[in-house]
Amino acid sequence: MQRIAVINQKGGVGKTTTTVNLGAALAHRGLRVLLLDMDPQANLTVHVDKRPDLEGSTLTSLLLDDQKLDALVQETGLPNLFVVPSDTSLAGVEQVLANRIGRETILREALETFAGRTSFDFVLFDCPPSLGVLSANALVAADWVVIPMQAEYLSLQGMAKLLEVIQLVQKRLNPQLKIACVLPCMVDARTNLSTEVLREIDTHFGSLLTRTRIRNNVKLAEAPSFGRTIFEHAPDSNGARDYAAFADEFLAMIGVRAPAAVGNDEVPSPTDDSPEVEPLAGEPPAAPARDDEPPPREIAAEA
Ligand SMILES: Nc1ncnc2c1ncn2[C@@H]1O[C@H](COP(=O)(O)OP(=O)(O)O)[C@@H](O)[C@H]1O
Ligand SMILES: [Mg+2]
Repeated sequence: MQRIAVINQKGGVGKTTTTVNLGAALAHRGLRVLLLDMDPQANLTVHVDKRPDLEGSTLTSLLLDDQKLDALVQETGLPNLFVVPSDTSLAGVEQVLANRIGRETILREALETFAGRTSFDFVLFDCPPSLGVLSANALVAADWVVIPMQAEYLSLQGMAKLLEVIQLVQKRLNPQLKIACVLPCMVDARTNLSTEVLREIDTHFGSLLTRTRIRNNVKLAEAPSFGRTIFEHAPDSNGARDYAAFADEFLAMIGVRAPAAVGNDEVPSPTDDSPEVEPLAGEPPAAPARDDEPPPREIAAEA
């Protein structure tokens, strides 16, 4: 099970949209995906058609009351896609845990004893727009970080702080944490501003910057109000195309071969461990070397 934190302490940059639609794209490829809503605003919970005010058990029960993760997992309308919902009670967690020893490792421990860990291929954490205890739990529990970034003026502001926190977590609590990529979201290719900002992001992040750009797309903005992912809401939209392309690029970046399309019997040779696309080389400005990456592995689609 690969654990992915989708994080950026700025709000409105595309974290929730990316978590839901990356998760849905992976689920459509036959991979089993669990989404964890770690934001008290519960946007992800609503996006997958749940009602935060009606949820009895949310991530709060896990973080504060030692409730087992297995008891919190719910189905969504999409096969292979599951969710642990959030609600506003999560807002109180930071304060309650403030003086509790080991507060940053609660989620990691919960995942270690999670019975579903053998049946899920991915768990995605949708982080809140802050760098508090909730985000720390996500970073400590994660293998990979995905940083969505809005292609607009000042989008790099705050990035030094985020990279510093990631480095600190790597040093103290989770040495295997790696940055997978920086994903430009809400890109308007027609404006010089977007182009300029992308060039600036490229100078800072180099090979960590994805080739995929998530364009501005009204269907992506509409989908949450229907409680549907972009693939159900508007499968022919640019939003669906961009997130499908991102999912493929992401799998290649982390060295996971995309499973054969559902219904296709062709299984890649187990000895052929080369990823579909060359993994990106080079080092991020404030991230660990990437040459300690585990060899590419394959994830079998659920039968
Ligand atoms: N590519 C896009 N094009 C148009 N609207 C988008 C796009 N990505 C996200 N949005 C919208 O922008 C808002 C903020 O996105 P969201 O994913 O909720 O950000 P975050 O989780 O970082 O706060 C939401 O209303 C969302 O529907
Ligand atoms: Mg969000």
